[in-house]
Amino acid sequence: MTIKNITVLGSGIMGHGIAQISAMSGYNVVLRDIEQHFLDKAMGKIKWSLDKLVSKEKISQNQANDIYSRIKPVVDLKEAVKECDLVVEAVPEIMDLKKKVYSELDSVADENVVFASNTSTLPITEIANTLSRPEKFIGIHFFNPPLLMKLVEVIPGQKTSQDIVKLTMDYVESIKKIPVVCRKDVPGFIVNRLFIPLVHEACYVMERQGIKMTEIDSAVKFNLGFPMGIFELADFTGMDVIHKATVEMHLRDKKVIRPHPTIEKLYNEKKLGQKTGEGFYKYSDDKYERIPLSEELAEKCDPKQILANILNNAAWLVTHEASDILEIEKAANLGLGLKKPLFETAKEYGMSEIVKELEQLAQKHGQFYEPDPLLVAMQ
Ligand SMILES: NC(=O)c1ccc[n+]([C@@H]2O[C@H](COP(=O)([O-])OP(=O)(O)OC[C@H]3O[C@@H](n4cnc5c(N)ncnc54)[C@H](O)[C@@H]3O)[C@@H](O)[C@H]2O)c1
Repeated sequence: MTIKNITVLGSGIMGHGIAQISAMSGYNVVLRDIEQHFLDKAMGKIKWSLDKLVSKEKISQNQANDIYSRIKPVVDLKEAVKECDLVVEAVPEIMDLKKKVYSELDSVADENVVFASNTSTLPITEIANTLSRPEKFIGIHFFNPPLLMKLVEVIPGQKTSQDIVKLTMDYVESIKKIPVVCRKDVPGFIVNRLFIPLVHEACYVMERQGIKMTEIDSAVKFNLGFPMGIFELADFTGMDVIHKATVEMHLRDKKVIRPHPTIEKLYNEKKLGQKTGEGFYKYSDDKYERIPLSEELAEKCDPKQILANILNNAAWLVTHEASDILEIEKAANLGLGLKKPLFETAKEYGMSEIVKELEQLAQKHGQFYEPDPLLVAMQ
């Protein structure tokens, strides 16, 4: 089977970007949303983005026109999937809504059509089990913004066929992205399993050790190779995204995350980060703004507890056969922008130091911190 025609369901933040990058690689795309005005807004954003690529001389005006004309906005679902080979679903992250959308879709799409969900945290197998074609359902997790972010996590459910995994990987590569397979449908997949718990851990470090946010952020940036601080990255991602991911992941696995109340508090206060002018930090306007971090501030914080947390989750993924160290490093580099491999940093610290840190935390704060057997074996 080859893919020529793609239907993207949902024209929001992710959907319009996925439609654009697919059209830029030559696919015919139908972009579907529930009301015309959502589609008008999405097509406006796509046009703006293509114009920008023309002005930067990345593509010609003719190419831009061509790409734009390959994206057809459609409201009617039946019409939207009439000729499609692959549906990429990017509707809001609400399980009941996704199930409703898939039930409709399953009844109107031809039986050969493949369904791929851009869910960040919902269980792939559970959605698949509501379908008449669970073997043709897969997770395809793009990162925001899809135009710029190279990584796409590919997540087979328990019943996804190998052919569909291959087809999805080929599609991801054809749109010039780099696929990383998360071999098991585990909460958070790879990148969110590393990142979301880390935001909570950084809150615990701040609270327990009385260290300032800018000191923790500087330490992870200058000593662990993060592209920016954790609180800064959380503000950039959005507290709504982090809070919802926390709830979903914690619901499925208590070991993955120890929710710190600050996240929910900020979410309830609508302090969502950059986009609302305040999250962990305050921002002067809605323009993208960096927090001043420095090597001097970094000296005030030893990020060992933070490193131990992310390594413990990385090790969990390996122990549970969801991934391996090489793939995790690739995902952390492309999805989180980590400049230095995690396990290399761990070696610099000494793995026994990391294990000791986790054992001490477990003694003080409970089982959650118990070191993964892989880290213990790597000492
Ligand atoms: N925003 C992110 O940073 C991000 C990153 C990775 C993955 N995701 C995932 O992508 C998915 C979409 O997120 P988003 O941020 O783009 O959401 P969004 O709210 O920006 O867009 C969702 C769109 O879906 C539309 N919609 C609702 N019901 C629909 C239906 N039945 N058919 C078609 N369209 C429908 C809405 O009108 C809206 O335009 C979620 O599963 C989310 O977890 C989001």
